[in-house]
Amino acid sequence: MKKNIAVIRGDCSSPEIVAQAIRVLDKIAEKHGHTFAYTEVDMGGAAIDKYGDPLPGHELEKCLASDSVLLGAIGGPKWEGLPGDKRPEKGLLRLRSGMGLYANNRPAKIWPQLADASPLKPEIVAKGIDFIVVRELIGGVYFGEHKTMELENGEKQAVDTMPYAEHEIERIGRIGFETAMKRRKKLCCVDKANVLDTSRLWRAVMHRLQAEYPEVEYSEMFVDNCAMQICKNPSQFDVIVTENMFGDILSDEASEITGSIGMVPSSSLGAGTCGLYEPIHGSAPDIAGQDMVNPIACILSAAMMLRYSFDMAKEADEIEAAVNAVLDKGLRTADMMSEGCTRVGCAAMGSAIIAEL
Ligand code: IPM
Ligand code: MG
Repeated sequence: MKKNIAVIRGDCSSPEIVAQAIRVLDKIAEKHGHTFAYTEVDMGGAAIDKYGDPLPGHELEKCLASDSVLLGAIGGPKWEGLPGDKRPEKGLLRLRSGMGLYANNRPAKIWPQLADASPLKPEIVAKGIDFIVVRELIGGVYFGEHKTMELENGEKQAVDTMPYAEHEIERIGRIGFETAMKRRKKLCCVDKANVLDTSRLWRAVMHRLQAEYPEVEYSEMFVDNCAMQICKNPSQFDVIVTENMFGDILSDEASEITGSIGMVPSSSLGAGTCGLYEPIHGSAPDIAGQDMVNPIACILSAAMMLRYSFDMAKEADEIEAAVNAVLDKGLRTADMMSEGCTRVGCAAMGSAIIAEL
């Protein structure tokens, strides 16, 4: 098969992980007789430096013309002082929205080899951690109106609004139920319905959908409680469906309890098969250029791209098995290092995974 992949190398330590993911993809292509053609796309800090815009229209066009997009991570201290509209993060939000990618899938699964690296007590980890955060990705407060104005007394006031229309809730709610149907058939809607109108509307829509999925055990939880439950008893969760900002926050928490945020990939999809695949972690500016960053989340994101956008389940399985084998051998990057293991750098981790393929 021939596929066109748009590649966003990203900022700070991100190009290091994307390079490893591409090596892995090339190895898979060679092994299975596929052709992966890469189109380089600038987004985030790199695009600001080059074009003064975190996502120029021509770069978005390249993504829309591709079969899928592979991204590392964007942002860093260099661009922090810029106004909201010109920041690297705005490029990412515009990319997700421009591609219509409303459904972000973030798996939180303990790798048995990394159980020691989890900050949770062993008895909690032993009960199992295997859930998915289905995060709404192109609505809510990240896409509502942002404004800062001056009050009569000269003080500044800022406002961010959180809009959600029923169709936006329904399409992500459906993904939540469908995802649950393919797993242990449990879905938890996470919100703040004791305070927010958007959450109450969210629940009303979910109740309508619930009637279509009688096999799914459906529950609801306030987001503050959920944050606590994720560290107290994560084994209770199968699929969590939630709005954009809550999903952003909870998925970081969920990833960390599985051992390292450096291990968690994600997929973002909309109506078609063209998706965006990226680690959930940031660009790790503090370790940029030191060959220290963990490439596994990016490599697993490439595997997700093969599975969900290219229908290459076997190839994806092989990458995941290779990661598993390398962890079995005790190889660890700094972020997930524990006693008795061998510490390796980013490129060596990539090579070790390729050697298993
Ligand atoms: C993420 C990131 C982004 C988000 C930022 C960089 C805009 O935190 O992918 O979780 O909030 O979605
Ligand atoms: Mg985040």
